[in-house]
Amino acid sequence: MKNNSFTINYPSIFCGTEKSHISFLSGKPDLVSVFNPGQNPENKRRFFVTDATVASLDCMKDFISKFDDDSCGKDVLMILGSGEPYKTIDSVLRIIKKAIDEGFSRNDVFVGIGGGVICDLTSFAASIFKRGASVQFVPTTLLAMIDASIGGKTGCDFENYKNMIGSFFPATDLFYFPEFVQYLPEKQYFSGLGEAFKTALLCDEELVCLFKNESEKIKNRDVEIVDLIIKKCVAAKAQIVEQDFTEKNIRAFLNLGHSFAHALETIVGLGSITHGEAVAWGIGRAIHLSYKKDFCSEGFRNSVFEILQNFGWETKAVPSIVKGGGIGERFLTAMHKDKKNIDEKIRLVLQKKIKDTFITEVEDTDILNVLK
Ligand code: GLY
Repeated sequence: MKNNSFTINYPSIFCGTEKSHISFLSGKPDLVSVFNPGQNPENKRRFFVTDATVASLDCMKDFISKFDDDSCGKDVLMILGSGEPYKTIDSVLRIIKKAIDEGFSRNDVFVGIGGGVICDLTSFAASIFKRGASVQFVPTTLLAMIDASIGGKTGCDFENYKNMIGSFFPATDLFYFPEFVQYLPEKQYFSGLGEAFKTALLCDEELVCLFKNESEKIKNRDVEIVDLIIKKCVAAKAQIVEQDFTEKNIRAFLNLGHSFAHALETIVGLGSITHGEAVAWGIGRAIHLSYKKDFCSEGFRNSVFEILQNFGWETKAVPSIVKGGGIGERFLTAMHKDKKNIDEKIRLVLQKKIKDTFITEVEDTDILNVLK
């Protein structure tokens, strides 16, 4: 990887673009310099989508003011509500309606500026707007930088189930300002770290060691270590999506911990727990199940638990946020709806050790055994 840019190539199938070009930009996020609102390259108009939280950041002031004082030319900015409750088909349709009302064409560009919710919604809207306009991202959360913005998964939640509707439609350009990470609330930062730890277990032993040995620097958002985590996770995910863009095989490994996590998010209500926190708990359950089924050693299970606990992530069978009875049955109902399942059986991503991952069908009793 060259230090400040990176290109991901997609297989030659139609998904709007064959490449995503990532630029790493240092210093205070300066979106005016990147986009020059009002000056449209190649006569393309930009439809910027962000949320209220990002729009209120101090570093966004100059960019937002271009739209307040009308010096944005033919570019348009839409500000949505923040968070998982807004990840709905209604938000997607609102984006599309505004783009139609403002006279956008499929030759124009949608730009999502925000976390995973904004990136997923904007790219989903772009993918179906007049059968597909191109999309660019400025990911502003660690989670969006290392996961959501890479590899073209778009979509929204539906009836309290995560990401049930969507398409594959990668961004042509991604502009990374790692400094956005310094603006994140603690919970959001740790949510990104949960996904980063998952990537480490799947692909990068050195990154696992970093989580083990440099936890204080990581927790304190040391600039160099945050940069390193982002670059390592981007490189790992790029390698996976280049080989398996539409998730026919190894891309599904990225769902390590996610079957448990999505069920947890559904049970407690989407948005009640951060995605990464749910994933971290789900990783613990998946590794514990691997141990119970004799796929991995006790030592491996314990070393993963130690890191999870050191970062404050729960490793209990049932996380404290889950209340009420019938917990096992509630998890099973939610897990049977998982997109990875092919028939009646639940399919889980499990591990033998770091970088030794596989997918297998498990019995309902296996799931129940690790939830008590
Ligand atoms: N977030 C998992 C994937 O992109 O496949």
